[in-house]
Amino acid sequence: MDTDFIYDPFDELGIGLDVPFVPSDERVVKAMLEMGAVEADDVLYDLGSGDGRIVVAAAQECGARAVGIEKDPSMIITAEAYAAQMGVEHQVCFVQDDLFEGDISPATVVTLYLLHTINLELRPRLLSELRPGTRVVSHAFDMGDWKPDRRARLRGSSIYLWVIPARVAGRWEWESPAGSRYRVALEQTYQRLQGQAWVDDQPAQLQVATLWGDLMELQIQPEGDREAESIVLHCQEQQLVVVSEHQRGAIAHAA
Ligand SMILES: C[S@@+](CC[C@H](N)C(=O)[O-])C[C@H]1O[C@@H](n2cnc3c(N)ncnc32)[C@H](O)[C@@H]1O
Repeated sequence: MDTDFIYDPFDELGIGLDVPFVPSDERVVKAMLEMGAVEADDVLYDLGSGDGRIVVAAAQECGARAVGIEKDPSMIITAEAYAAQMGVEHQVCFVQDDLFEGDISPATVVTLYLLHTINLELRPRLLSELRPGTRVVSHAFDMGDWKPDRRARLRGSSIYLWVIPARVAGRWEWESPAGSRYRVALEQTYQRLQGQAWVDDQPAQLQVATLWGDLMELQIQPEGDREAESIVLHCQEQQLVVVSEHQRGAIAHAA
């Protein structure tokens, strides 16, 4: 079944739905869970959970805990009955709420099958309320200029993955265990980075700057014939901690 749909006026019950109920095909659900790498320690939120099929599959197939946020009360009844039928009612919960309002901050994975316009409206919420590293998987609709980290096609439908990026824009400095002073100035557009680097106050080449959730890799080529260094940093609240073997334990602070 092709599950893409075209927007039409709907919402006969007048409950303020932004998207009609169109279920994701079972193979698409499976592919979404795979793309989100959903595991038993995950907490999945499906925004606009419909008949609960993504929530129930996350619990049943991945052992995850899962929450459906759904505005239509009749869908909540259907989803709860389905979860009970599949024996996962203790792992899941369905909340009757608006997907623009319900608390989504506990999620480690968020799934969406909405509309392009709704994804764009939701985008600032996802970026500000979800923790860095949280995976967002969308069936059929992208996020405009926030390019996906991965995309797959299945029977004419696209499935997109984004990893919520840590905020790292700005200037950072640290001292390596060997006593060299490092400084970087980073510009950030979603997960894309560019910038400049200095080692011991000398300009260096920032060959690579990549962000995957809360992990950032920098490849810095100091002046002269020294080899390029690959440094992996874990982005925490106010600091970046080097976790790669090279320079492990060094801490970068905002400059
Ligand atoms: C296209 S269906 C997707 C269902 C399910 N996630 C899936 O992929 O099979 C969208 C669902 O979002 C719900 N919905 C629409 N607007 C909503 C809103 N503002 N808040 C919460 N749910 C909403 C609809 O009732 C519908 O069940």
